Amino acid sequence: MSRPHPVQVIAVTGGKGGVGKSNVSVNLGIALSQMGRRVVLLDADLGLANIDVLLGITAARNLSDVLSGECDLRDVLVNGPGGIKIVPASSGTQRMTQLSPMEHAGLINAFSELGDQVDVLIVDTAAGISESVVSFLRASQELLLVVCDEPTSITDAYALIKLMNRDYGVNRFRILANQVRNEQEGKHLFGKLTRVTERFLDVALQYVGMVPYDEAVRKAVQRQRAVLDAYPRAKASLAIKALADQVDSWPLPSSPRGHLEFFVERLVGTSA
Ligand SMILES: Nc1ncnc2c1ncn2[C@@H]1O[C@H](COP(=O)(O)OP(=O)(O)O)[C@@H](O)[C@H]1O
Ligand SMILES: [Mg+2]
Repeated sequence: MSRPHPVQVIAVTGGKGGVGKSNVSVNLGIALSQMGRRVVLLDADLGLANIDVLLGITAARNLSDVLSGECDLRDVLVNGPGGIKIVPASSGTQRMTQLSPMEHAGLINAFSELGDQVDVLIVDTAAGISESVVSFLRASQELLLVVCDEPTSITDAYALIKLMNRDYGVNRFRILANQVRNEQEGKHLFGKLTRVTERFLDVALQYVGMVPYDEAVRKAVQRQRAVLDAYPRAKASLAIKALADQVDSWPLPSSPRGHLEFFVERLVGTSA
């Protein structure tokens, strides 16, 4: 048997809805795929503006069919733009912490079979800090928080950081400023967030850069296309490519935490 293949699991989150999590997830996935990484995007948001809608995808099956044993994870994967594969949203993702032992074993199997065909798993989380969102965050190695320059985005990001730090001992968070005007505004926003976290929490926030506010993103959303796919030279697309370069330089998970089976085990709450 071959050694399990390390997979980088990145949760894209941020607390508030509408900050750009889904757009960042999809486009970061495409950019990494263009760099030769095999990317799977797990849509963990059942909300209205989920990835199916964003990309105009109709999914015949979803994760709940895997949980009920009706099909394999492979049958659920949908081909997305730029070579990414998508696990569509389903009610299954809302009850990951309440699986029956059968479903639990099935899910671990499903992901371990996929393990040698994926380098990066991006998890697009729902808004808020529900139990379901937290379970995905706990299971991921990298937490990428998308924030915009609005008081509610900053307070929601702070609440999420505080919860993950106090209750689960997470102390490293990656911060992406989205929908800002320029580099300076992105850094300024990061500064606002670090001022509150440094005062009250023992965490390390790492700034990974910014994606500018760009009409091309809105136009792409209207056309149900990814901006990187429809407008590859747009400012937002170039910023996402720069982000992907950074993400690609993040340390690879070291065994055994970095394997997909362990992602699922942490997800369903059997290992700490
Ligand atoms: N960099 C950006 N520039 C312009 N508009 C953006 C940008 N990022 C996101 N948006 C807009 O914000 C809306 C919400 O984005 P979305 O990715 O669905 O957020 P979330 O997943 O956090 O709820 C989208 O309709 C999109 O048009
Ligand atoms: Mg979303």
